[in-house]
Amino acid sequence: MKHLLSLEKLPNADIEKIMRDSAIFKRERARVDRKPLAGQHWALIFTKSSTRTRVSFEVGIRELGGEVMFLSANDIQLGRGEPIKDTARVLGRMIHGAVIRTFAQNDVEEFAEFSKIPTINALTDDEHPCQILADIFTFKEKHGPIVGKVVTFVGDGACNVPRSWIWAAAKLGFELRIAAPKKFQPPAELLKRAGGKIVCTEDLEKAAKGADLLYTDVWVSMGKEAESAARIKALQNYQINQSLVKLANPRALVMHCLPAYRGKEIDDETFEANADTIFAQAENRLHVQKAILSWVVAK
Ligand code: CP
Ligand code: NVA
Repeated sequence: MKHLLSLEKLPNADIEKIMRDSAIFKRERARVDRKPLAGQHWALIFTKSSTRTRVSFEVGIRELGGEVMFLSANDIQLGRGEPIKDTARVLGRMIHGAVIRTFAQNDVEEFAEFSKIPTINALTDDEHPCQILADIFTFKEKHGPIVGKVVTFVGDGACNVPRSWIWAAAKLGFELRIAAPKKFQPPAELLKRAGGKIVCTEDLEKAAKGADLLYTDVWVSMGKEAESAARIKALQNYQINQSLVKLANPRALVMHCLPAYRGKEIDDETFEANADTIFAQAENRLHVQKAILSWVVAK
């Protein structure tokens, strides 16, 4: 039984397979004979909002021949306190796979354990593996292999997106620089566990120098709304803008996982100048997740 619960636990050979298959799914989207989910019912169980992840999984599952139901956690008994392990044991007897977006990483792990069906992490507070796989695929498409390159993450360096970048850097052999105020840097214990070449710094300009990719994410992640004002104040200098781009490699890509807040983590000019890359990232969620779904159901 395979799951995609975190990048931490995804072996390199499987990452490589997903990358190869993503390219095929993208190139051959019009083909209708590849249906590894035929006869299957999948559920998307979401406790947090989503545009890209929800739509790309719904379309992807259908294109692979499966049926899909969207379950907002607030609409099912989970929202009224039914334990995850009971929900998992019920659904595991009825459906063939689950895609889960929620807060605690442990909830996704527990669902996988008790449901005994393939389970995919569609974002938790700890990781956003599908996003980072799509980002790496996008980088490769535009710039070639990521090994040996420099990726600079700017902003809230402690949230799910940079945490998944940390695992990717350690596994795939590129340098990751995280530019963030001390309070928004990832925990030392996580960096130690991951290994790899990862530098955390408050010095934004130093972090951007010569980078091959400048990447950012929202300053206020889902679930952190109560800290909104304090976060905006603390992170106000950690923005990707034209003067930062000038410090990077002249061919550097600028990426954003979206949704974007212009004037906060990125300025409008820089966002629009890099819209082609940013929306390719969004589109690639579909192709990469079709590769993930195919991988997860393969024997
Ligand atoms: N990037 C991303 O996961 O977007 P959604 O929150 O819209 O799914
Ligand atoms: N860090 C963001 C990612 C959104 C796709 C959040 O968790 O809200």
